[in-house]
Amino acid sequence: MKAVAIAHPNIALSKYWGKKPGEWNVPAVPSLSITLAGLATTTTVAFDAALTTDTLTINGAAIAALRATELLDHVRSAAGLTTRASIVSTNDFPTASGLASSASGFAALAVAATRAAGLDWPAERVADLARRSSASAARSLFGGFVELDGDIVRPVAPAGAIDLRVLVCVTTEAAKAVSSRIGMNTTAAKSPYYAGWLETAPRIHAELKAALLAGDLPRVGELAEQSAFAMHASAFAAGIVYVSGATLDAYATVRALRADGIGAWATMDAGPHLKCLVHAKDAAAAKARLEASPGVLRIIEATPGEGARVSASTGEDARPGASSTGASGVQGRSPCVDR
Ligand code: DP6
Repeated sequence: MKAVAIAHPNIALSKYWGKKPGEWNVPAVPSLSITLAGLATTTTVAFDAALTTDTLTINGAAIAALRATELLDHVRSAAGLTTRASIVSTNDFPTASGLASSASGFAALAVAATRAAGLDWPAERVADLARRSSASAARSLFGGFVELDGDIVRPVAPAGAIDLRVLVCVTTEAAKAVSSRIGMNTTAAKSPYYAGWLETAPRIHAELKAALLAGDLPRVGELAEQSAFAMHASAFAAGIVYVSGATLDAYATVRALRADGIGAWATMDAGPHLKCLVHAKDAAAAKARLEASPGVLRIIEATPGEGARVSASTGEDARPGASSTGASGVQGRSPCVDR
């Protein structure tokens, strides 16, 4: 009745922003992400008959379980359980600040909760459970490059498909003011450019996927940057602003790197941290320049990583469904209240 899971955040190269009306947290546009090694959420779920309510701590602080309880209710219903659970989660990176802590968090929670409840579900089913809590979390179930199209999540290329590094330029340790859920719902309701986003995003996604499968990093980088700016432009027009001065200074540095012949591209999510995509061979040079950018506190260098899994420290294997599906060929945000 207890399990520990580890999951990594993912960064969308082509972004999800907005939901299909009338469906349960199904993205309005397809997205493609890279699951990151180098940042991790570790979550322990223990069903405990002595508890009268689910309890949740993130990095040692008690938090109302809310969305975690919704996920646990699905698990309890599938497993025929009524027992409440304690959830203990830790992030080794800033929580709820646009570093995808809800993706790794709900992915880790879905893996740990299903395993603790004795459900041996294939990764796709665990991903669908995580997607209902936070759509981007579905992508963290898998490693490498992962697509989310409607409610279908699938790995599209292994971690080694492109020798990529992601330089996460941390510009604040604080949680953001507007969650991605509120940000995207406000964009859909108020932005005059949301319709343009819905029209543009699938084309960028298809072109990016093709470029990735062709191993064309410069094209992947260009399209990732287009996707990020199209998403943020639609949000801006609804008064939803995630970037800060530090983000824009870091972006100027990325452009300066390009002007100097170094392939570097930017992407940003629902927070002020700029993520710079570079070929592995250029990572050291790009990192040195970005470290000097005003407002960049530190840089986390991430590589493509593996999907969510039961922690080896429990002595068990491993990925969800490993015993029933051979892990489906899979290789590779905390249950926080927002992303
Ligand atoms: C900008 O998955 O956090 O990171 O489904 O409402 O929890 P909910 O939203 P969430 O949104 C992610 C938005 C994004 C882009 C992306 O990851 O595709």
